[in-house]
Amino acid sequence: SIPYVVGSKSPLAVAINCAAKAGEWIKSRLGTVKELSTKYSPQDLVTDVDKGAETMIRKLILTHFPNHDILGEEGVAPGAAASEAALAKAKASEYLWIVDPVDGTTNFVQGFPFFCVSIALAYKGEVIIGVIYDPIRDEMFVAEKGKGAYMHGNPTRVSEEKLLADSVVAVGFNPDRTFAAPVNLKGIVALSEATRSLRAAGSAALHLAYVAAGRLSGYYEVNLNAWDSAAGALLVRESGGIVTDTAGNPYDIGVRNLVASNGKIQRQLLDVITAAGATGLH
Ligand code: IPD
Ligand code: CA
Ligand code: CA
Ligand code: CA
Repeated sequence: SIPYVVGSKSPLAVAINCAAKAGEWIKSRLGTVKELSTKYSPQDLVTDVDKGAETMIRKLILTHFPNHDILGEEGVAPGAAASEAALAKAKASEYLWIVDPVDGTTNFVQGFPFFCVSIALAYKGEVIIGVIYDPIRDEMFVAEKGKGAYMHGNPTRVSEEKLLADSVVAVGFNPDRTFAAPVNLKGIVALSEATRSLRAAGSAALHLAYVAAGRLSGYYEVNLNAWDSAAGALLVRESGGIVTDTAGNPYDIGVRNLVASNGKIQRQLLDVITAAGATGLH
C-alpha cells in the first residue's frame, strides 16, 4: 500500500476535485478564447484556457501536496526533445502528477464538443491514479491501480470484440506533420482496411477512456506524451484491457507510440501496424 500522510485528503479525491473544477471552468469558456497561438507547428494550438486550467490544477494540487512534483503540458517547451527531457527529470520524482489541462485543444477552439481534463498520479514512476473528465457530457472516468475503474460509480469494462475486422478503433492525426504524421498515416491506412471502422475524434485521453468503457475496441497513435496517455492507460488496464507500445512492450509513462485495446485484439492491432511499417519513430 501507499504511504500517505495520515489525515491528509486522499490524492484520488484531489484528482477528481481538480478535474471537476477545471472542467467546469473550461466549459464556461467555450467560444470565448482570448488568446490563440501555435506551439511546435501550425497544427499545435494553445489558448489562454489551456494555460489557465493548468495553473488552477497546479495550485489545487500543491495546496494539498506541497511536496509533490507536477508535469503539466503547458509547463514544458513544445516539441519531442523538450518533453522527453522533462519526463526524464520527472521520472526521478517520488510522487508525480501528470496533467493535461485540456486534451483536445483543437476541438475546444472549434467548439467541437470532445475534449477533457486528464490527471494522473505516479508513485515512483508507476501510475496509481487516473482521472479523465469530459465536462460536456459530465462524465468522470476514474481508475485506481489494483482497485478497478469507474464512471459515476459504475465499473467500466472493455468491449468483447475478438476480431479486429469487427472492431471500431480510434486513431489520432498527430500534430507533428514533419516526423510523426507520415508514420501515423501509414498505420491509419492499414487499420482502415483491417477494422470495421475508424474514429479520430481529436482527444487521445478521451479515446483511451472510451476504450476502457467499451465504446471503442482499440486506439493507436504515435508520438504521444505522458500527459496524453498516463490517466487513460490506467483506465484501460483497470477495465480489463491492454496498453503497450507499438513493439508490444507494456505501457510506462515514457511510451510515445501507443496501442491500447480490449486485450483480445491487441495482437491483431500490433501485427497490422508492424506490417504497415507504422510502429513509430524509435
Ligand atoms: C492532442 C490530442 C490529439 C492527439 C494529439 C495530442 P492536446 O492533445 O490528444 O487528439 O492527436 O497527439 O497532442 O494538444 O489537444 O492536449
Ligand atoms: Ca497541446
Ligand atoms: Ca494532449
Ligand atoms: Ca493539452
